[in-house]
Amino acid sequence: KSIVVLISGSGSNLQAIIDAIACGQINGRIAAVLSNKEGVFGLERARQAGIPQIVINHRLFDSRESFDAAMMEAIDAHHPDLIVLAGFMRILTADFVRHYQGRMLNIHPSLLPKYKGLHTHQRAIEAGDSQHGCTVHFVTEELDGGPPAIQAPIDIQTSDDADSLQQRVHSAEHQIYPLAVEWFCADRLALTVSGAVQLDGATLAPEGYQF
Ligand code: GRF
Repeated sequence: KSIVVLISGSGSNLQAIIDAIACGQINGRIAAVLSNKEGVFGLERARQAGIPQIVINHRLFDSRESFDAAMMEAIDAHHPDLIVLAGFMRILTADFVRHYQGRMLNIHPSLLPKYKGLHTHQRAIEAGDSQHGCTVHFVTEELDGGPPAIQAPIDIQTSDDADSLQQRVHSAEHQIYPLAVEWFCADRLALTVSGAVQLDGATLAPEGYQF
């Protein structure tokens, strides 16, 4: 399968997917990496892996619609089967999301539906939660609200601060994102028209597969 990865930053999840392809875990190829920011380290990772890089600076567009239309055109030139959002920090329009419905994944640093949005680690600690984690989910029009495919729960230690917790969550991200992409590329993971996630033909619980 052909994959386009969207990033805005360091691209450590992109790297995990590049590595999983290199070692044969994922039966797919990254056709291009698209960033809305110039000079981010994720683009350097793509360059080192010999993957074409696309930069589309959102600041050069006067609306979200025109930015997303430019992205869609650049993405579709590569005829991807799967779009992977890996630290892509722009909110997407409904048109963009609908266009890739069922073939776009995102990773979010919380056990969704808890803590959509930003500062998830700090919020989990402040709430006194005993567990935190990360979720790979299909992207729908609701921000961070699409149905989960995989979740990795992490125990919160009393000694944790947002930084230490973030490090453990990030390591878990690097395990579950390649796994979700592996499953999707092997036609094992799918979003049904009714909005449920299926793995090997069986509908998953609302929180997704528990890693
Ligand atoms: C991750 O924490 C991910 O959960 C969030 O953005 C961050 C991306 O990190 N959506 P990286 O660029 O893959 O290192």
